[in-house]
Amino acid sequence: MSLPARITRAIEDLRTQRRDPLCAYLYDLPALDRHVRAMRAALPANCELFYAAKANPEAPILRTLAPLVDGFEAASGGELAWLYEHCPKHPLIFGGPGKLDSELEAALDCHVDAFHVESVHELRRLAHLAATQGRRAPVLLRLNLKLAEAPDSRLVMGGRPTPFGLDEEALDEALALLRHEPALELKGLHFHLLSHQLDVAAHLQLIRAYCRTFRRISQEQGLQLPLLNVGGGMGINYQDHSQSFDWPGFCQGLKDLIAEEGMAGTRIRFEIGRFISAACGYYVMQVLDIKCNHGQYFAVARGGTHHFRTPAAQGHDHPFVVLRGNQEPDLHGQPVTFVGQLCTPKDVLARQQPVAELAIGDLLVFTLAGAYAWNISHRDFLMHEPPQMVFLDR
Ligand SMILES: Cc1ncc(COP(=O)(O)O)c(C=O)c1O
Repeated sequence: MSLPARITRAIEDLRTQRRDPLCAYLYDLPALDRHVRAMRAALPANCELFYAAKANPEAPILRTLAPLVDGFEAASGGELAWLYEHCPKHPLIFGGPGKLDSELEAALDCHVDAFHVESVHELRRLAHLAATQGRRAPVLLRLNLKLAEAPDSRLVMGGRPTPFGLDEEALDEALALLRHEPALELKGLHFHLLSHQLDVAAHLQLIRAYCRTFRRISQEQGLQLPLLNVGGGMGINYQDHSQSFDWPGFCQGLKDLIAEEGMAGTRIRFEIGRFISAACGYYVMQVLDIKCNHGQYFAVARGGTHHFRTPAAQGHDHPFVVLRGNQEPDLHGQPVTFVGQLCTPKDVLARQQPVAELAIGDLLVFTLAGAYAWNISHRDFLMHEPPQMVFLDR
């Protein structure tokens, strides 16, 4: 694996700028721009692309995405306030379980484009709050589907018992409330059953099931719903990025699916996180020490899983590139375990990885570090300094 020349140059520049060993996140904003433009260009006409900010809500990332996406998804009151501050003109949607009354009120004040309602209790509370404020709340009901074949990936949110979304058995009660409550406006249905999807055919099959359920419920209940939200979940293959979710192939299949399922008159909305921002991010650590312990080599580098929890969260060896410095190599071809500065044996980023050469002072550049990385990390643990944050612009 090699790095884009522009990234290597930027990292080499950073190396010379600081006295202390380097530890930084680098984001390639032009690459993010190109990636999302290509995603958009491939989407069928009646589809919308929202960004799930939980993947990475850094302000420059949002600023880069703002002109390219149809809106943003917030999964907490905190994310919603942040998105409203940074992208006030964009449609925002508010989802997630366990919403507080204060958060629902704040979302009404932000005039969100849709509330993704997770339970009948939440729907009742929203109705009451909207009625009290003299407002009408736009609602998408999130459903946890029962499917003949349960979806399968490393992170499943539905199609089996989970805390997410309404059971179809609760639908009649929810729809009765929606019919009789003028403070609520039902705009559509929402599904997000899994993340880490790598299989295009399986994902198209899942979306076909969403479409059929959407049409069946609309017919059975005599509803004319304009909007179907099909969630996100397109996966990144961390071991071989060329095998990540095939977006162009998926969009081609989606065009046919929309025609076959008679969905051309419905807005189909995606709210994607990982697949949008993962590839634009890099986490850089400088090697502080190399040692042999009980016959195995360890490289201790500046930073760790308190900055970059992705390898620990995924339970994988994260891909990286070594940028050699000027030192004579300490190791030639031996397998090395790469760890951070934390005093826990869990602070491991990649295990027993063969490297051609390695010396103290070399840089480790972890790729695919732009989603569910810095923002999911236990950054206060041990009170180490945060990484430098670098956003490469044009
Ligand atoms: C409801 C919902 N929508 C969208 C997403 C984004 O998923 P991904 O980052 O896999 O695209 C998630 C992730 O947890 C989610 O729970």
